[in-house]
Amino acid sequence: MDRIIVEGGRRLSGEVRASGAKNAALPILVSSMLTDGPCVYDNVPALKDIESICLLLEDLGAKVETSGSKVQIDAKGIFKHEASYELVRKMRASVLVLGPLVARMGRARVSLPGGCAIGARPVDLHLKGLELLGAEIKIEHGYIDAIAPKLKGAVIYLDTVTVTGTENLMMAAVLAEGETILQNAAMEPEVVALADVLKGMGADIEGAGTPEIRIRGKASLSPVKASIIPDRIEVGTYMVAAALTGGDVTVTGCNPHHMMSVMDKLRQTGIKVDVVGDSAVRINGNGHIKSIDIKTVPYPGFPTDMQAQFMVLMSVADGRSVITETIFENRFIHVSELKRLGADITITSGSTAVVKGVPGLSGAPVMASDLRASASLILAGLVASGETEVNRVYHLDRGYEKIESKFEGLGAAIRRVRE
Ligand code: EPZ
Repeated sequence: MDRIIVEGGRRLSGEVRASGAKNAALPILVSSMLTDGPCVYDNVPALKDIESICLLLEDLGAKVETSGSKVQIDAKGIFKHEASYELVRKMRASVLVLGPLVARMGRARVSLPGGCAIGARPVDLHLKGLELLGAEIKIEHGYIDAIAPKLKGAVIYLDTVTVTGTENLMMAAVLAEGETILQNAAMEPEVVALADVLKGMGADIEGAGTPEIRIRGKASLSPVKASIIPDRIEVGTYMVAAALTGGDVTVTGCNPHHMMSVMDKLRQTGIKVDVVGDSAVRINGNGHIKSIDIKTVPYPGFPTDMQAQFMVLMSVADGRSVITETIFENRFIHVSELKRLGADITITSGSTAVVKGVPGLSGAPVMASDLRASASLILAGLVASGETEVNRVYHLDRGYEKIESKFEGLGAAIRRVRE
């Protein structure tokens, strides 16, 4: 397993370009199953999770061709309705094939995605929505079996805001008979991006980006060419890196409108954040970081995927910060690793951690556990004295494209040791 070694103390400066968003690319690549022609996507990030979803689509019978950040998918040849455990266990977002498979094939058999480090990650709302659309759902031997010769539009209230739940049901509804209304829908930019691609295929969707999405089903959809939106979580990660190191970093190729809550929180810590044109942000870390409280909530609030990164910033801030995680029940795994680096963090309840800023962190070997926790360990290594060795970086490779070369380009002393 590869390791990444970071020598702390370097001030980051310069420019770094955002990659395409993993969490937009995954549902958009899957949406190619809703038509019988070659769909062409660009600005697709080169990530392990993207490889996994392409392997799954090929296993179902689609033709996938990749060249650089361009991916072409032709679903004409899809002949299977079963997504195997082998493939789904590698990435729980594979559950996104459920809705499109039922819409296309009239049935689907998808391995029930297991939980992961950050929580149980149930898919009950995905299944409730499909049942309301007329699918008969059975769960046995660890598989979801969904049968629906023809899905029919319905009003679906989602008890919890769910990003992939909203995406799965939107993809099922675009080929259903009649009108579907998703209530309490997720408003993340990745949901809006998927809706835009589906509309490009001829789908009739209104309200994406609001809590109520109205979908009028169509008999068929056409192939599309689309570009993946920038990854707002990757951008936020580099913004925090600049703040941590007192650096001067411009992140290009991003969409500042997707970063409002992260930019606001960074400004509250005293960091200078400027929007440059309509596709770049510039961060000037003036070295002094004020402690503030954060609470993760669905978009447009502060994103849970930025919680670990922000905790690192608060661990070297000038006071006490209360961090509340409301989305996942176990998303503080990075706390014990950060404490090995000298951070002063106390988990006061399942969802709350109190961070007391310390003058500095000290490098040590640490263990990555989930994607964003791994990124937070790299960030901590950038400011810790001495060397920090992050193990199990395969977690990182799932969601951060060329992370060490991007950080090296900003002046970090970082290298990967391939095992
Ligand atoms: C998406 O996960 C993202 N993944 C996650 O990013 C992100 O953290 C999360 O949304 C929240 O923003 C992708 O888009 C591929 P949810 P998702 O369904 O859709 C509960 C990363 O690092 N819930 O919005 O799986 C669930 O337990 C990943 O890139 C149900 O109870 O998250 C959680 O508490 C990590 N029943 C809450 O809703 C359901 O049927 C939000 O989960 C579905 C979800």
